[in-house]
Amino acid sequence: MRERLEALKKDVLAELESIEQVSQVQELRVKFLGKKGLLTEILRGMGKLSAEERPLIGQLANEVREVIESKLDETKNLLDQAEIEKKLACEAIDVTLPGRMFHIGNRHPLTLVIEQIEDIFLGMGFTVAEGPEVESDYYNFETLNLPKDHPARDMQDSFYITEEILLRTHTSPVQVRTMEKMKGEVPVKIICPGRVYRRDNDDATHSHVFTQVEGLMVGENVRMSDLKGVLLAFARQMFSEDARIRLRPSFFPFTEPSAEVDVSCMFCGGHGCRVCKHTGWIEILGSGMVHPRVLEMAGYDPEKHTGFAFGMGVERIAMLKYNIDDIRHFYTNDLRFLKQFNRV
Ligand code: DAH
Repeated sequence: MRERLEALKKDVLAELESIEQVSQVQELRVKFLGKKGLLTEILRGMGKLSAEERPLIGQLANEVREVIESKLDETKNLLDQAEIEKKLACEAIDVTLPGRMFHIGNRHPLTLVIEQIEDIFLGMGFTVAEGPEVESDYYNFETLNLPKDHPARDMQDSFYITEEILLRTHTSPVQVRTMEKMKGEVPVKIICPGRVYRRDNDDATHSHVFTQVEGLMVGENVRMSDLKGVLLAFARQMFSEDARIRLRPSFFPFTEPSAEVDVSCMFCGGHGCRVCKHTGWIEILGSGMVHPRVLEMAGYDPEKHTGFAFGMGVERIAMLKYNIDDIRHFYTNDLRFLKQFNRV
């Protein structure tokens, strides 16, 4: 029996040598030490031993069991460790590999310019208002002192949806909508950026959809000089610190008096060049003192309150600021064009 136990130990050690997987350790454990294992089988013969021999063989059997157990554990640990190392090796990250470039989009040039305009006017205490693009004839024309038969309606060829509903031709209706909401309160100080629609043939300087920013200030003693001051501050922040402006008499049905505003040419500083057609000036917006009838229709008493208003084309401002030669660039979404604004 002693020999059989020694042989068993040798067999285990030999089999352990050739083991490659952790699961095989468990198989060996069952095979040698399990209830129906080889060791148990040998020990079944204990009954036939003499009383002297029994404790000696029992002790030996325990020793063999211990050796087998510790060898099995040892092998299992080694295999576990090897497995972890293998896993770590194949999951290793090479931090020296160059990264992949992400293509991040950027804001559209018109958005950039609208945000700049908003910043400038917010800095002067204006807030941003909005109005619908599908507008009623009433707000787009009537309340702006443009009754049905008024010839100035022809200046703005419109997209009509029904007799009474159209796509707004300008952002001016937001003036009236805002004043109605304010219910006679002053001051009113808003700008309104938004899209407008006109039945125009598209070319380098015209588009049937474009963007305007409207401005309106109503209060006590609001004067033309306030309009001039606000627009000069705007021109200086938008174009250059030494920009100058000039007002030329003009006509709009909703303002009286009305003025067109020019800014000193940002390309030649006012000396005269091709862009300003050698005049030194470039027109940037229409403006004026809000017509008493417009104030009245919007619920304000023109005897108590006065106001100024202006409206500018955002595309035009953007084209001047970034030297863009064709308005269609804004809408055709050529990435080579749009990407140039990723650092502005
Ligand atoms: N609404 C005019 C247009 O689209 C622009 C304009 C002119 C707006 C004078 C105004 C203004 O507020 O006072 O042609």
